[in-house]
Amino acid sequence: MIYDADARLWLLSTPSSGYAVRLGSDDAPYNVHWGRRLTIEQARTLPPDREELPAEGGGRFGAASLQIRYGDAVRGVEWRHLGHDLDTDLDTDLDTDLDTDLDTDIDTDAGGSAGGEAGGGHLAIRMADRHYPLEITLHYRVRSGSDAIERWTRLRNAGSEPVTVLRCDSAAWTMPPREGYRMTHVVGDWGREFQVRRGPVPEAETVLTSRRGHSGHQVNPWLMLDAGDATEDHGDVWSTALAWSGSWRMTLDRDQDGRAGWTGGFGHEGLTWRLGPGEELETPVFAGVYAPDGFGGTSRRWHDHIRRHVLPAPDRVRPVIYNSWEATEFDISEAQQMALADRAASVGVELFVMDDAWFGGRTGDHAGLGDWWPNPDRFPRGLTPLIDHVKRLGMRFGIWVEPESVNPDSDLHRAHPEWVLHQPNRARTEVRSQLLLDFSRSDVAEWAHGWLDDLVTRNDISFLKWDMNRPFTEAGDDVWIPYIRNVYAVIDRLRADHPDLLIEGCASGGGRADLGMLARTDQIWTSDNTDALQRVAIQHGYTQIYPACTMGAWVTDSPNQITARPSPVRYRFHVAMAGALGIGGDLRAWTEEDLSWATALVEQYKRIRPIVHGGRMYRLGEGAVQYTRGPETVVFVWQPSALRRATAPVLLRALDPDGLYRDEDTGVVHHGAVLMSHGLPRPLPFDTMSELVHLTRVTAPAT
Ligand code: DGJ
Repeated sequence: MIYDADARLWLLSTPSSGYAVRLGSDDAPYNVHWGRRLTIEQARTLPPDREELPAEGGGRFGAASLQIRYGDAVRGVEWRHLGHDLDTDLDTDLDTDLDTDLDTDIDTDAGGSAGGEAGGGHLAIRMADRHYPLEITLHYRVRSGSDAIERWTRLRNAGSEPVTVLRCDSAAWTMPPREGYRMTHVVGDWGREFQVRRGPVPEAETVLTSRRGHSGHQVNPWLMLDAGDATEDHGDVWSTALAWSGSWRMTLDRDQDGRAGWTGGFGHEGLTWRLGPGEELETPVFAGVYAPDGFGGTSRRWHDHIRRHVLPAPDRVRPVIYNSWEATEFDISEAQQMALADRAASVGVELFVMDDAWFGGRTGDHAGLGDWWPNPDRFPRGLTPLIDHVKRLGMRFGIWVEPESVNPDSDLHRAHPEWVLHQPNRARTEVRSQLLLDFSRSDVAEWAHGWLDDLVTRNDISFLKWDMNRPFTEAGDDVWIPYIRNVYAVIDRLRADHPDLLIEGCASGGGRADLGMLARTDQIWTSDNTDALQRVAIQHGYTQIYPACTMGAWVTDSPNQITARPSPVRYRFHVAMAGALGIGGDLRAWTEEDLSWATALVEQYKRIRPIVHGGRMYRLGEGAVQYTRGPETVVFVWQPSALRRATAPVLLRALDPDGLYRDEDTGVVHHGAVLMSHGLPRPLPFDTMSELVHLTRVTAPAT
């Protein structure tokens, strides 16, 4: 990070990108560059472009990042620069065991001519309104070795009157002028999350948003733009992702001059925030990545950043999980869970998770949420016998919870009807027969922390699946932000007090997958849709930004419970093995043949897990993905049907052309140059929908 006082210019550098901000003659902060690395001399030649945080007011007519109403009803901001703080020693020693140095294509185009350091740093540009006592700080952070620029905003009411914040975004992002802007994002629904969409940016405002109180199945809070010419391997791509798990908004604007940029942050439109005298409001991080090497390079940069700087415990091995939900739903018992555990252990599962229906009067979705003690009919001896059984089988134990919800038919609701989200004179809308507890209340958050802490302290529990199965309704303005912060605080406190506890984030599948949740969980339950064929598309969308080690993926029964589609056990495993593998079917009903496939494939997964979870991901066209870590490479090939044999060769990436690679199953040794230019030599047999190839670089000559 460099400051040029004469030009009032800040230059931030990451390994492959540069970002420059300068103050205009009106004191407002303007973007001057986001793209390839520049030297300070080069950045100095650039004029101010779009504003870094456009406020409402004056001659601005676009979507405002900042909308303020003061006590006298005057609105807007007129900027005054106060100063800045620059700290360049941030977490330079933070490193994990991830092979970020192995990928040649991440560093080659880093703009070597530009030079300059690319270590970590934190810049705070301190601003205020010219007239009103409102301080606005624009924060920028870069982490050592990462290409993400993390931005956020802090407001402070330095006056004696309250002000109303109508909008306070984390950041606005400016695209350089280009023809043919194109946007990429993911859309979906329950069971259909993370569907990639790519198309032209309309000459208008485009709003991506969730008004649901969680980040949402419908649109995930990230956005990529390119000039219409980027491919998987080539071209400039600019992308941003928001670290917030509640409702949010991003407004992408392509103006009358054809220029594009976007602003984004927490809260949907229409929410207001009262900032009392002396109070502060800090937004979540909105991170941006520029990649000169296409959508593949973009995804790898995000994976690296998330694994090194977002996840709380990136190096922790994600165990092979068994989850009982699809097998048993609400009809569970101690003996039945033990029988499932027996089967799970026999195929190599490492952690057994008992899902819903173990507590209170939870015999269906109509009752019991909120009463977090073992159902006395189902577990008359408490959880200990089951947990002991699971441990005797050599597995760890995990359990499902939904701390934010309550059924009206529960002791908790009967005792505390005032604890739910509600408003006077309004109905209490039920979804899935449940209401949401008002987590913005400190007594509710304390209660939740209390029983969760008790549950994991009294029982030998290694894993929590934290679910959330309904959106907000009847929530007042002052709920949306503190609610999520209190959810974060409860999870953070549990993690701090139980450092070995693994946590899986879930909201009816992937309804709350975002950088905010990933900062405090180990993995996400990606989707309730476990149909392997449809899962390929869901996983394709999920891994655009989020890394495979966080992508919970179960193998379930055939035919699939949701889609009724049958599929081979090998195919189901091969799809799930590209993420954090779990098994979610009714193993009691599996054939001996399927169980022996499961045993072999779980064993193989354990061998390739470090490559899938810690390696770099390359999408090899439709239905093929490669992970490479050091000398090892794994390639998955998935076909929609055994009849539709892939004709295009699967060309491998990022190997050493002069290297030799041994197929761990066949022992055959291949040349790197041949694998990259002609692809894998073995076409899939006619009756096969998938293949998994594990290659290790060897020094011996090819035979
Ligand atoms: C929704 C989750 O996505 C499922 O996996 C399961 O845990 C159910 N909730 C349980 O009610």
